[in-house]
Amino acid sequence: MKKLFLATLLMGSVTLSAQTSTSKITIHADQGKNVINKEIYGQFAEHLGTCIYGGIWVGENSPIPNTKGYRNDVLNALKQLHIPVLRWPGGCFADEYHWMDGIGPKEKRAKIVNNNWGGVVEDNSFGTNEFFNLCELLETEPYLSGNVGSGSVEEMAKWVEYITSAGDSPMARLRRQNGREKPWKLKYLGVGNESWGCGGNMTPEYYSDLYRRYSTYCREYDGNKLFKIGSGASDYDYKWTETLMKNVGDRMQGVSLHYYTVKGWNGSKGSATKFNKDEYLWTMDKCLEIEDVVKKHIAIMDKYDPTNKVGLMVDEWGTWWDQEPGSTSALYQQNSMRDAFVAALSLNIFNKYTERVKMTNIAQVVNVLQAMILTDGPKMVLTPTYHVFEMYKVHMGATNLPIELQCDSLVSNNKKFAAVSVSASKDAKGLIHVTLANVDPDKEQKIEIDLGNAKIAKVSGTILTAKTVDAYNTFENPNVVAPAVFKDAKVSKKGLFITVPAKAIVSLELL
Ligand code: AHR
Repeated sequence: MKKLFLATLLMGSVTLSAQTSTSKITIHADQGKNVINKEIYGQFAEHLGTCIYGGIWVGENSPIPNTKGYRNDVLNALKQLHIPVLRWPGGCFADEYHWMDGIGPKEKRAKIVNNNWGGVVEDNSFGTNEFFNLCELLETEPYLSGNVGSGSVEEMAKWVEYITSAGDSPMARLRRQNGREKPWKLKYLGVGNESWGCGGNMTPEYYSDLYRRYSTYCREYDGNKLFKIGSGASDYDYKWTETLMKNVGDRMQGVSLHYYTVKGWNGSKGSATKFNKDEYLWTMDKCLEIEDVVKKHIAIMDKYDPTNKVGLMVDEWGTWWDQEPGSTSALYQQNSMRDAFVAALSLNIFNKYTERVKMTNIAQVVNVLQAMILTDGPKMVLTPTYHVFEMYKVHMGATNLPIELQCDSLVSNNKKFAAVSVSASKDAKGLIHVTLANVDPDKEQKIEIDLGNAKIAKVSGTILTAKTVDAYNTFENPNVVAPAVFKDAKVSKKGLFITVPAKAIVSLELL
């Protein structure tokens, strides 16, 4: 597929006024090949800050309305997203988590210290049964992160047995004792997390050997099929991927990749809500850089796995800003229209590489980093990122359509990047969905969408925009950034013409 984005002058497109640009998108509606893995729209929940405790789980005796301990407002909002897969219990937490601490009568569960995230007391009241029951309530596939860093092979093997064994095995008996007769299904199993860092500070060679041992004893009980995921690289660490693919590529079904839109790991990461235009443009460019990173990891995977058996699982991604001033909840950050763009751009990219990218999990679902939802006691608010996931969910399981794009460029630190980002898919009913973002903070885009021979009669759409790119929702003003009906689309014999305002994300349905 050929994708073009060239500066206005080069392409001869006309700038109508200082505030308008023209773009052209060609969608090859008859050339779709790859189904967009629904797991690309996955989420991540770690025992970190108030993601689990307070954000999802309040306990049955809480005054906050709940269903068996899960807060109703959050449950209902998450159900709308049709979350395909939920990763748990970490993150860094996973490699210090001992699952047996979190089963059985709650009053007897071990109280431990969460060393990774602020040294707070973890009372283990949310454990394996609570996680799998949550997944059942959300109708989502569980993705378990196993402890390689500080746990034993036996511990991981027994966890899989506890969850999936149907027979008369010791761990199945323990599960029954804890009130769950039937096993759960477990597909996705992460063998460690960030094993190059908080997951044990290993070399890729050493981790590869451990991967062999740990994964060997994770058995497939009673028809349960495991999809084992090796703990993969952080952004530009191509050597890590190369070593794992070479040493254990034939034993993994997936290898992970973490990529954060973050300024760096030392010092301030910048405010989530107070930033200037340069910082905004830097964010867009850094986010878009994931395309190059993904391509390079895929190229390595292609070399060792030319038949595409191993998936690239981007199981942590999103923005990472400074913790919200005044908040005591670790990694709690606000979420503005800028974050919405990071979600929109990233998802458009992941759709494009769906052939190899089998899953992604934005970090994280509630109250942590680029969250869908923020809570404070009984209050809850949906973030701009939540709205992007809701607008984009139409792509799950649809066929990705090849696209060509001609549009203006924006510049950050002398680097050019496209002002428009787009993705299109055709669903099982034959409906075409287009999601696009105009990241230009100043100029609207007049866009011609060429659909070739595909005939459309009607178009409907949703738009997410705000007065400024730093706009965000609060508990007091929850609809500052909220989806609205998109009206600026016209279908004619010549094609589809839309006008997308500056700093806006649009999702279209073509009938
Ligand atoms: O998502 C927050 C943390 O970021 C995770 O615990 C870790 O895996 C990563 O470094």
